[in-house]
Order: sequence, then C-alpha cells, then structure tokens
Amino acid sequence: MQNLSAKIIGVGMSVPEKRLTNFDLEKMVDTSDEWISKRVGIKERRVAEENEYNSTFATAAAKDAIEMAGLTPEEIDFIIVGTTTGDTAYPSVACIVQNNLGAVNAAVVDVAAACTGFIYGAGIAWSMIKSGLMKNILVIASEVNTAMIDWHDRDTCILFGDGAGAAVFTATEETGTGVLSMELGGDGSCQELLVMPNSGSRKYTNPDGTPMMRAIQMTGNEVFKNAVRRMNEAALAVLKKAGLSNEDVDLLIAHQANIRIIDAVAKRLKLSPEKVYINIQKYGNTSAATIPIALCEAVQEGRVKSGDLLVVDAFGAGLTWGAMAIRWA
Ligand code: COA
Repeated sequence: MQNLSAKIIGVGMSVPEKRLTNFDLEKMVDTSDEWISKRVGIKERRVAEENEYNSTFATAAAKDAIEMAGLTPEEIDFIIVGTTTGDTAYPSVACIVQNNLGAVNAAVVDVAAACTGFIYGAGIAWSMIKSGLMKNILVIASEVNTAMIDWHDRDTCILFGDGAGAAVFTATEETGTGVLSMELGGDGSCQELLVMPNSGSRKYTNPDGTPMMRAIQMTGNEVFKNAVRRMNEAALAVLKKAGLSNEDVDLLIAHQANIRIIDAVAKRLKLSPEKVYINIQKYGNTSAATIPIALCEAVQEGRVKSGDLLVVDAFGAGLTWGAMAIRWA
C-alpha cells in the first residue's frame, strides 16, 4: 500500500454578524467586563439571528475552504461535521451542507464529541485518507451555542458564542507533511461535569417535577482542571508519537474556552506567547468550532508558513479530548 497521509489545502470560517459584548451582558446578569476579561479573556462573542442556523455558518465556511483548496464540491468524498448544536437531530448538518454545496458524491456524518468535535472529525478524515479509501474530505465544525443558553445564568452565559470553521484534507504521498500524529481520548466517568439536559431523548426534571431547562450545566472549576491536564497530555502525546518535542512547535492552536486554560497549557509546554494562537477575545467559546476558526484566522494572518509544526489541541464535554501534530504543507 502507498504511504499516504493527509494535508490541509483549504480553510474557511463564518461567524454571525451580530455581536454581544461584555457590556451588553452587564445589562443582562450580575457580571462585569472586568471580571469576564480577567477570568476568561473574552471581550465579545457572535450570536446567530433567528433565521441563521448551524448549517448556514457551516455551509459558508465550507464554501471558502473548498474554494481555497481549488476543488469543486463534486470532488469532495466525505463531509464530516463536528457539532452538538445541529439544526436538527436529523438530518445531520453534514447532509444539509452537502445539499447546499451540491457535493453530490460526498458521504455525510455529524460527529458528537462536544468541543473536541473538529479533532475527532479530522482524525476520521486522516484515517480514511491514510487507508486509501478516500481522497478529499471536508471537515467542518459548527455551533449555535447561544440557542442552548440560560441567559440568566452568569456562570455559563458569558462563555459561549456561535460560528463555524472548515478545512479540506487531501491525500498526499509527501513524507513528513500534513498530519503527523493524533491522540484521541475520553472519560465518561466525568460526564456530570458538563451536561446539556433535555437535548436528547432522556427527560430531565427539576426537584419539583417540572422539566429542566435545556441549558448548559457546568462545574466550571473541575472542567478547568481537567482541560489543562488533558490538553497538556494530548499535546505531549502527539509530539512523542511524531518523534518531536515541545521545542519543535511553531504554533499551538488550543481550544478557546478560557484564556487561563490556554496559558496554563502553553506554560506546561514551555511555549512563548508568540507560539500560541489566541482569538477567544473576539468569539468566546464556539465549542467544536474554535479550532478551525482559529486555524483559518492564523492562516489568513500569515501566522502559519509552509514547514511549520502546528499542534491543534482540544477538550470538551464527555469528557473528550484530542490533539494532532500537523506539518503545514
Ligand atoms: N461574573 C462575575 N462573577 C462571577 C461570574 C460572572 N460571570 N461567574 C462566576 N462569578 C463569581 C462566582 O460566583 C464566585 O464568587 P464567590 O467567590 O463570591 O463565590 C467567583 O466569581 C469565582 O467563581 P469560580 O467559579 O471559582 O470562578 P473560576 O475562576 O473557576 O471561573 C469559569 C469560572 C467558568 C470561567 C472557569 O471555571 C472556567 O473557565 N471553566 C472551564 C469552562 C469551560 O471551559 N467550559 C467548556 C469546556 S469545553
């Protein structure tokens, strides 16, 4: 069998126009711009309008990624969407995007790994391409988190935003280019730390028997500690698997959930600030979409050059986590 790997040849992103600033939130809950900026690193986030769906942003991000890749929609073999806030349980977002793009030859699936959805999707794409089964795979991550928020809960409503990012992976025979290694993990024993009640078939009720609101419930500080630990371990694991060390990293693109989580992971990896990509201040936590949105902006800003070693690193509900080492083509 040929020695195949997968490299990224196109990236794209799309976020809602509507901005919700910390000052707007000050009028909604007992919080302050100062607290949010200092404790989380967010200044504003984007919010979908009622006539904008998860698939709206997923499609727009995908169009840009395919255009940059220089492919036609018909050349896409598989569309994988990392999301837990799809338009509907079914059809999948991937199915809707396929129709919107006219990607008639593509298989379609959504991957539910919460904030790790893009890395899980990219992992599936890498293995399908590596095995020779497929050539061009579109991996999207898209979320409309603001539809799942209790706007009275200051613990969670300040954290999340909406948007989508996409990347086209294609087969390459060049050795040492594209995806070099991958680490995926999960720990279902910590499932209670981050839960979206009444988002599926199980009915959750309050102590008085009334239906619980479908809104993010989180034990923030425990999630925080697990995120730092697991993202650090995942980054070290992919470097080790690729025969590299932290000194080889040119850019860390970590899940944008809290600036203090990213700083803690970067510190453990001994990475200087210019080697760490941060855009949480603009978009907040867009769950699975933070990594491809950050990757797209890093490419557009010229922060990623041919030959650079990227580590993408995410953590989310489940718990789930994952990382990839990528040599930019
Ligand atoms: N505005 C002002 N004060 C707030 C606040 C807000 N939005 N949210 C909480 N506080 C208060 C708390 O009530 C508490 O007050 P007290 O000391 O009087 O009891 C104080 O701030 C500290 O709360 P704590 O929860 O300990 O803060 P924290 O430093 O852990 O930060 C998170 C809270 C949620 C920002 C942080 O834990 C976090 O980012 N966790 C991970 C979240 C995450 O990444 N989730 C998604 C994973 S993919």
